[in-house]
Parts: sequence; C-alpha cells; structure tokens
Amino acid sequence: MSTPEGCAARQQAIRLNKQPVTPIYCFSYVMKVLHTVKELQAALHQARQEGKHIGLVPTMGALHQGHASLVQRSVAENDVTVVSVFVNPTQFNDPNDLKNYPRTLQADCDLLTTLGADIVFAPSVQEVYPEPDTRAFSYPPIDTVMEGARRPGHFNGVCQIVSKLFMLVEPDCAYFGEKDYQQIAVVRAMTADLHLPVEIRPCPIVREESGLALSSRNTLLTEAERRTAVCISQALKTSVAFAKDHSVQETHDFVVGALNATQGLEVEYFEIVDGDSLQPIQAWSDAESVVGCITVYCGARPVRLIDNIKYKVAP
Ligand code: PAF
Repeated sequence: MSTPEGCAARQQAIRLNKQPVTPIYCFSYVMKVLHTVKELQAALHQARQEGKHIGLVPTMGALHQGHASLVQRSVAENDVTVVSVFVNPTQFNDPNDLKNYPRTLQADCDLLTTLGADIVFAPSVQEVYPEPDTRAFSYPPIDTVMEGARRPGHFNGVCQIVSKLFMLVEPDCAYFGEKDYQQIAVVRAMTADLHLPVEIRPCPIVREESGLALSSRNTLLTEAERRTAVCISQALKTSVAFAKDHSVQETHDFVVGALNATQGLEVEYFEIVDGDSLQPIQAWSDAESVVGCITVYCGARPVRLIDNIKYKVAP
C-alpha cells in the first residue's frame, strides 16, 4: 500500500509507539541519511520555515532498544526527528576504548527506519571537527565527581559535541537516556550556560528482562560475562529494600561488598548522591532526590559498565 492513508496510518501507529501490524509501504516516507553539515542544514531549512517542532536524539550508534525508546518518544512528540550517529573522539580518554567502540551504521539505519526517524546525521570526524575543538567547558561540582573524576576530559568532549549538535540542528528538545545520569546533569548545565533554547528530556533506563541495563558496550561481553553483569542491577535493586532500614553508608557497603564478592566484577565506584547536585549525601534526609550511581568493570577485557538506581524521587 502506498496511499496517503497508508502513510497516515503508519505515522499514527508510530506516534502511539506501536509498529504497524502489517507492513505498510509508504513511498512518501524516506528517512534521509546525511553525512555533511550542508546537507543537514538544507534538509532542516524547510522544516524550520514551516515552524515544525524538531526533536534530536544524539547517539554514538550501535543502537539498541534503549536508543529506540528515545527515538520513539521523539517521533511521538515532534514533527521531525533527527538522530545523530557519531562516535565522538573528544570524549574518549582511552584510545583503546575509542578503537573498540562498536560501529554499526547500516544496522542502525535499518532500526531507525522502522522507528520513523526522519533524518540520520552520520558525519565524519573531519566534518564535525574541521579544526581541533579548543573550547573548554567546566561545570563544577557536577562534572568533577564520579565519571568526571575518573575520565578526565570526558564531559568536556561531551559538551563539545552536544553543543555543536544543538547549534547545527537547533532542536526544540533533545532526548537522553538516564543510564548516563551525570551526563544529563552536565548537558543541562551546558545548555543553560550557553543559553541554548533546547529542552532536555531525560528518558528512563531500558533493561533486559534479566535487569541488565541496555548499553552498546554489552555487545563486548561474552555470554558468561553478560550473566555475571546481571548481578549489578540485581544488587542495586535489592539495595532499595535494604536502604529502608539501613544508613547511606551501610547501603553503599552492601552494594560494593556484594559486587566485589562476585567473580568477574570489580566496582570502580558506587556513590549515593543528591540527584540534583550529584554531591554525596550522608543521610537519606539530606536530599529530596537520591540516586546511587555505579561503575563496574566486568570480565576479562574488562568492559566498563555503568548503571544507577533511584532511592528517592523528588515529589
Ligand atoms: O551518550 C552518548 O551516547 C554520548 O555521550 C552522546 C550524548 C551521544 C555524545 O557523544
């Protein structure tokens, strides 16, 4: 079917976060895959002229159902959805990590077509950084704790690429997964600092049935390591009940103790923090929203996995 009704039915199905039951071939829906800034801006020019709402989902590719949930939400909430697929070198502080990062553009585009994305922006490094980016972003104390303390330059690189994407796409809103809890706080600070008129929309972590938080890095785990990695979300989940009659320190030690006792896992850090300032708390009453953020090395390679859990959500 290639009728306008068919297209409308498909769009409606996507807006309702449902895939059409039977395939509807909609020849007026063609997802554009663009590699240059010039192509991107030409494609967005008309949408902007028509006052269309633009949603941006920044990604580094190797897309999974976690990314899919961000794209589905953007498609449902905007007229045009742009998904960027770019492994940003400036946010990697470990050259091996950058080299090993999975790159799967064709599979990513196949998934994005089924989700109803309108534009995939997949530029080269040269296209994004024709000159080295010497801009320095600093938002202490939000970016100096946890990931910021362990990965020097990481959030500076994230701010470099996200600010460029915000300036190129000029989205009304941008979607980020809560698995990278601290990243959202840093991006919010950067957006406010630069007065960029973009609304940041955080989206919940998507987990496998086992509880393992979806991550592009999971593809680097062996089957056995993947089963071991499940202990991370299990320990976090169990700790929510434990926290009800234990102190912050006891809850911290409970999680770290359980995971470090598991063969194949090593906790890099687990911090129980104020969900807004990201500063460690001493007592549960210290903050209205409380999050436990963890990074664990898993397996022989090892693969660095992050996850988090909410102990208290602000009313
Ligand atoms: O979360 C990510 O995948 C990346 O940090 C982002 C936001 C796409 C910037 O490269």
